[in-house]
Amino acid sequence: MPNSDMSVGEVSKRTGVAISALHFYETRGLIKSTRNTGNHRRYSRTVLRKISVIKAAQQAGISLTEIAEQLAAIPNNDKVTSTAWETLSSSWKVSLDEKIERLTLLRDTLSYCIGCGCLSEKYCSLINPDDQLASKGTGARLLDPKEADTIREIKARYAAEQD
Ligand code: FES
Repeated sequence: MPNSDMSVGEVSKRTGVAISALHFYETRGLIKSTRNTGNHRRYSRTVLRKISVIKAAQQAGISLTEIAEQLAAIPNNDKVTSTAWETLSSSWKVSLDEKIERLTLLRDTLSYCIGCGCLSEKYCSLINPDDQLASKGTGARLLDPKEADTIREIKARYAAEQD
């Protein structure tokens, strides 16, 4: 029945998303349900497309917070129309491009030092001499998305020293 509402179990079965995750999406305002006379949750079939978009975005590394913010910016977002999808995908493109660029940089030149302060790898003395990256914050600085400029600068320095 293409236009009939669905139970949470049916939505879970069709989307492959656990019922607990569907409830979580609902508490975060990502999806909505109504209650039937028996007080059971009922979902419009359009929720299947929305959940698929959420799932695909999560698999692409977009945070649930970011997904929720972007979806909230779309009026009448119960159904993710093709126009809405264009808006969403273009806003996520920037974030994905940054992730891809950072991972590519790490793969290509920085895989021997992640700026964690261990100074135990061959290239740490070149990339993170005397743990200078500690001044930028805690953790593996070169795995932090906020350090994209630092990674670019190190890559340029590394390339110059290889010439
Ligand atoms: S890998 Fe830890 S500081 Fe280089």
